[in-house]
Amino acid sequence: MKLCSPLLLGLAAALSSAFVISPPHIWTKLILTHHWPSTFCSMEHPVCHPNISYWTLHGLWPDKGIACNSSWHFNSSQIEDLLPDMKKSWPDLLNPSSAAFWKYEWQKHGTCAAKAASLNSQHKYFSKALELYHKLDLDSILKKFDIIPSETYYKLSQIEGVIENFYNVKPKIQCVHPSKNADVQILGQIEICFNPDFTLMDCEKQFATEKMSKGDWHNLIADNKASGFSVCDHDMPVYYPPPS
Ligand SMILES: *[C@@H]1O[C@H](CO)[C@@H](O)[C@H](O)[C@H]1NC(C)=O
Ligand SMILES: *[C@@H]1O[C@H](CO)[C@@H](O)[C@H](O)[C@H]1NC(C)=O
Ligand SMILES: *[C@@H]1O[C@H](CO)[C@@H](O)[C@H](O)[C@H]1NC(C)=O
Repeated sequence: MKLCSPLLLGLAAALSSAFVISPPHIWTKLILTHHWPSTFCSMEHPVCHPNISYWTLHGLWPDKGIACNSSWHFNSSQIEDLLPDMKKSWPDLLNPSSAAFWKYEWQKHGTCAAKAASLNSQHKYFSKALELYHKLDLDSILKKFDIIPSETYYKLSQIEGVIENFYNVKPKIQCVHPSKNADVQILGQIEICFNPDFTLMDCEKQFATEKMSKGDWHNLIADNKASGFSVCDHDMPVYYPPPS
């Protein structure tokens, strides 16, 4: 019998890694992701009409685990006191009056972040994300150093430089690449990373230390592909689109 051809073995390995359940080890990094509403809305979202001209929160993502506890349901009454700030800082750009975005982020990322005692409730998770977002104040820092939406293109190194100089850590900056042969990329997301004690760290460290499981990688890559973002290219001008 020749059932175990290399092809079949390879396929089996690929399938099992795609469906592997992450072991319950704890995360070692948190990624605070900001997105630029105009770019988000220009992508694939016809119903999205942003009237927001500042960087908003996309999420607070631990580097390990996706959807860690399906029985821990999102309950907005547990974050009642945070809702005014949530609506302003973490709006659902597709449906501003809905809590669907927060529910999604909680189920996918919050339940994994909650493995740490510091984030083991919905209130702790969402209030910490808001706290970090306000502490960074990324939108003001970019403005302060003259990185403002403009019809004139930036170099990626200008944007990166401002962030690295101010925070003293490396961010991960993501763009939309409108087409294969486009000569410009559109600024979309900025990730800033934190240690478990909520001090800043380089986002790239995750790639160097390589502690993620295959399943985690798979999920993170799938996440970014699905959203249409990829790491900005250093050799291509960056368009930072003014709010529409
Ligand atoms: C959009 O923002 C502008 C300027 O901030 C404001 O004047 C306008 O009323 C807003 N429109 C909506 C629909 O919120
Ligand atoms: C999942 O969440 C539920 C509801 O909060 C909780 O009772 C349970 O202990 C959690 N399970 C794990 C493995 O953390
Ligand atoms: C949501 O949280 C509130 C406040 O803690 C609680 O009273 C309520 O029962 C919860 N709802 C559900 C569906 O768990």
